[in-house]
Amino acid sequence: MLLSEVREQAKEVALELGQVAYGFDGTFGRGGHTKALLNDHPSLRMIAFDQDAEAIQFGQTQFLGDVDCGRLQLIRGNFENLEMARAALAQNGATNFDFMLFDLGVSSPQLDVASRGFSFYNDGPLDMRMDDRTELTAAKIVNEWAEQDLARIFIEHGEVEFPFKVVRAIVQDREKTQFETTQQLAGLIERVDGWTKKGFHPATQYFMALRMEINRETDVVAQMLPKALKLLSPGGRLAVITFHSLEDRIVKNFFRERDAEATFGETVKRKAIQPSDEEVARNPRSRSAKLRVFRRYQDGESKRPKNKYAHLAKTRHLSPPPDYDLADDDLGGDEEETS
Ligand SMILES: C[S@@+](CC[C@H](N)C(=O)[O-])C[C@H]1O[C@@H](n2cnc3c(N)ncnc32)[C@H](O)[C@@H]1O
Repeated sequence: MLLSEVREQAKEVALELGQVAYGFDGTFGRGGHTKALLNDHPSLRMIAFDQDAEAIQFGQTQFLGDVDCGRLQLIRGNFENLEMARAALAQNGATNFDFMLFDLGVSSPQLDVASRGFSFYNDGPLDMRMDDRTELTAAKIVNEWAEQDLARIFIEHGEVEFPFKVVRAIVQDREKTQFETTQQLAGLIERVDGWTKKGFHPATQYFMALRMEINRETDVVAQMLPKALKLLSPGGRLAVITFHSLEDRIVKNFFRERDAEATFGETVKRKAIQPSDEEVARNPRSRSAKLRVFRRYQDGESKRPKNKYAHLAKTRHLSPPPDYDLADDDLGGDEEETS
């Protein structure tokens, strides 16, 4: 997802630094981004994380050549533990990454394989764990959590305005029969909420909320961001792709705060980069994806106010006023994106 846009960002790093020596992919999945980066940058070595055993196994077989020659190191782990990435770098005699990528959320195989329990179209056990070493499953939440806690996660993570009827029905139904499968839960939601938006299953937001709670998706992003910045090389870039407005807000605010401090680095574009119409047509799941990028300053660099009249100088051969201070102009309008 947003593959060409990610590649472009890594190419910018190569232009600035001469090469991309060490890269990090915090969400390997099927390795689509890693593969493209390895192809684009012949001297690049990648360290990649995924908390899902299946993703790591896939990488170890499908990227055997890169693993064997030391260009790719795969680590099963949660990217909130970036200390493991620092240790892996140190083993290579390096301290920083020139390019870091986090493509958040679930992968297509996780969604599509019924036994993972993420999907209401393919019936499976109510699981939804990306990392099967953790204990909390969707079944545990749905069958055991108090009514108000269920309502809270559906409101907070799922952005469901009125989950109360569904929550009450869950609590009543589970007295008789425990919830075991995804279609059992989806069926209840369908019965209680009905179809309101064409083509949008009423269980969509409830399932997303459960998945986010189980995998602590917003918490780990908030913890990862400051650690990731510390691992960036001067001139390096940190790229984060989100699918959920809550996650995007965390990333946007974190980058803007660092940008405003003007001591460590800058957001590359104020507006999030979004998939092209062609990509959305090809892959409708990409429609809510947003890419945000942060660039670490080179040593000794600090925020340079842009000159408002530079474009006039170019087109009309005028010299720009010498001391025009433009603290805000390089940031553009303070648009509030919704998603
Ligand atoms: C959207 S997919 C990434 C797809 C990948 N960029 C590709 O090109 O195939 C997200 C992947 O990140 C993993 N993941 C999500 N959160 C994670 C976390 N906190 N730590 C490690 N892996 C995570 C998931 O298991 C999943 O495989």
